[in-house]
Amino acid sequence: MRRIVFFLLLSAAAVVASIVPAARPADEQASPVFVTKIPSGYRDWRFISTAHEAGNLNSIGVLLGNEVAFQAYREGKLPFPDGTMLVALHYKHVASDENNKVFGQPQSFVAGPPTNVQVMVKDSKKYAATGGWGFGHFQDGKPATSAFMKPCFPCHAKETDHDFVFTRYAP
Ligand code: HEC
Repeated sequence: MRRIVFFLLLSAAAVVASIVPAARPADEQASPVFVTKIPSGYRDWRFISTAHEAGNLNSIGVLLGNEVAFQAYREGKLPFPDGTMLVALHYKHVASDENNKVFGQPQSFVAGPPTNVQVMVKDSKKYAATGGWGFGHFQDGKPATSAFMKPCFPCHAKETDHDFVFTRYAP
């Protein structure tokens, strides 16, 4: 019996030894880390700008930033400091029959049902593999899969003049 227990312990140790090297911090740094929780209180953050995407997205969006983000934008501080948090709230771009009736012609488009919330969080250590930015994408409050998140940074990486952030401050 003792022998069996000893053998079991030995094999358990072997399993642990084979797992541990795979979780070295160096390896963790090499693979991207994503934001899997929407930052709390984001709906009360400050307005940075708004944008409309046509085509398949057909969305209307608003970029909000926390206080660190807002101050950095106002002062034109680049790169954005650690602690910067940005949330892009996206909605369907829909015609407003109610508004059009008042205007007397079809001209009004407003925010329809929400489509997703996208997040960028600056932490130069934690998100070193993706330019210091943690990316998050949420639909109905649920985070997207890692596979879905893969293209985020490669595309944002093209915006080299503005610390990987496309949106500029709307005065
Ligand atoms: C093909 C390129 C591309 C991909 C892929 C992409 N983005 Fe973007 N992203 C943009 C562009 C361009 C804008 C500005 C568009 C706008 O203002 O409507 C933007 C805007 C944003 C913003 C607002 C801040 C900023 O940079 O202007 C956030 C947050 C964001 N994207 C997160 C994400 C996340 C999360 C993913 C992955 C799920 C992602 N993006 C994938 C191109 C991309």
